[in-house]
Amino acid sequence: MLKKFTNLAFQWRLSLLSLTPLILFFFLLTNSIYLNQLFHNSTPSPPHHQILNKNSDLNQTRIAICLVGGARRFELTGPSILKNLLEEYKNADLFLNAPLDGDAYKFFLLKRAPRIAGVRIFEPEFMNETQAQIRVLTADNSPNGIQGLLQYFNLVEGCLNLITSYESKHNFTYDWIVRTRVDGYWSAPLSPAAFTHGSYLVPEGSRYSGLNDRLGVGDRSTSIAALSRLSLVDELNVAGYERLNSEAAFEAQLNVLGVRGKEMRFPFCVVSDRQYSFPPDRYGVPVASMASKGPLSGAKCRPCKPICRGQCVAKTMKELDKNWSWTEYKNGSLDLCNASGEWENGWEEIFDRIAGKDAAKERIEMKELDVKGCVKKFQAMKRRTERWETPALVRICRLGLERFESSTP
Ligand SMILES: *[C@@H]1O[C@H](CO)[C@@H](O)[C@H](O)[C@H]1NC(C)=O
Ligand SMILES: *[C@@H]1O[C@H](CO)[C@@H](O)[C@H](O)[C@H]1NC(C)=O
Ligand SMILES: *[C@@H]1O[C@H](CO)[C@@H](O)[C@H](O)[C@H]1NC(C)=O
Ligand SMILES: *[C@@H]1O[C@H](CO)[C@@H](O)[C@H](O)[C@H]1NC(C)=O
Ligand SMILES: *[C@@H]1O[C@H](CO)[C@@H](O)[C@H](O)[C@H]1NC(C)=O
Ligand SMILES: *[C@@H]1O[C@H](CO)[C@@H](O)[C@H](O)[C@H]1NC(C)=O
Repeated sequence: MLKKFTNLAFQWRLSLLSLTPLILFFFLLTNSIYLNQLFHNSTPSPPHHQILNKNSDLNQTRIAICLVGGARRFELTGPSILKNLLEEYKNADLFLNAPLDGDAYKFFLLKRAPRIAGVRIFEPEFMNETQAQIRVLTADNSPNGIQGLLQYFNLVEGCLNLITSYESKHNFTYDWIVRTRVDGYWSAPLSPAAFTHGSYLVPEGSRYSGLNDRLGVGDRSTSIAALSRLSLVDELNVAGYERLNSEAAFEAQLNVLGVRGKEMRFPFCVVSDRQYSFPPDRYGVPVASMASKGPLSGAKCRPCKPICRGQCVAKTMKELDKNWSWTEYKNGSLDLCNASGEWENGWEEIFDRIAGKDAAKERIEMKELDVKGCVKKFQAMKRRTERWETPALVRICRLGLERFESSTP
């Protein structure tokens, strides 16, 4: 992994040796001018906590939905995102920003989204770590250290860049931006109540001593504050922040820009293959059964036969730190898995029962897909997408579907 990053970084350096400082300079300059204008020099409009109550009001507005992240189990999460986000807000434009890896081929599932504005699948490159970033951020609890955080921040901000460049090309601005992860499993539609002026809406719980950063909904200016994750690290440094994890940095950047974060419960969970010991201790991670009644507000989940429900859940969850991995569990909303091992045998049947016939069909079709079929599906999606920025389709498909043959030349 590291070797690959180093090689990539080397090639990158060779080709852009002289341009890099210039680009970086302009990037920082334009971003800080932009943000300063938005949040410091102008008096913010008074928050009026108006809620748009019906989709019919919202469908008169312009919404961008930005999906980020690795496709890992997208055959399970993708159909639920289509149904509960994209088809629910048919007038919204979809933007996807994702790294190229062996699962990226699964993104063709998005071909039936109502509107696709921009798709970017890129080769991850090592990001040099600045002194400010090293001061402001901590590698604790980040599986890939500060580098992992920077990659994630870049992914999120990259989606904002896709959106703003689409806006300038078409000479309009979005009213709302919804940002979430491609590994979210949605069990019900995104509520219109999430579209609230004057604050940035995030899921309740899973706070990790900051704000849950697994989903965010806001108007344009609060969204710019929330999604400029990489360029705001310098502002956090100036403000004296140190050793922040992703969630704490998220809360800090909203504080610095005077944007209020507001929690709400949302009906999705983050499908994870990671293993966590059970029962979780104070700073452990509870893993929900995907069949939990919810809303799970972005808690980790997997398909399982729950090991813990009712009183057991109450007893377990009371042990957890409220500012860390805690999530709401009352009224039987949460059932827990023993996630200390791999996904259990028979998880496919469990998933199919939870997600229903159509989702089961897509899961099975994905297993039967070959490179040719994959390319064809991507071509159909590409035809519907204005801005398409990906490696060759055949490469994306081969990387996932010929994983074992492709390594021998
Ligand atoms: C807005 O929603 C209403 C009611 O759901 C629907 O009849 C109408 O066609 C929608 N308009 C647009 C522009 O999508
Ligand atoms: C990153 O920056 C450090 C210090 O500025 C420099 O020594 C190093 O060569 C840089 N690495 C890359 C990959 O650009
Ligand atoms: C962009 O829109 C504004 C107002 O909506 C208009 O004044 C301007 O001429 C437009 N610019 C272009 C290049 O279409
Ligand atoms: C959680 O953090 C908030 C501020 O972020 C603080 O006011 C509160 O006391 C903390 N609660 C606990 C239980 O640590
Ligand atoms: C549990 O249900 C009761 C009665 O419906 C409701 O008043 C309460 O807000 C619910 N609590 C949570 C945490 O959902
Ligand atoms: C959880 O699963 C592991 C195996 O993955 C097992 O060793 C352990 O006993 C289980 N814990 C409980 C509380 O059942």
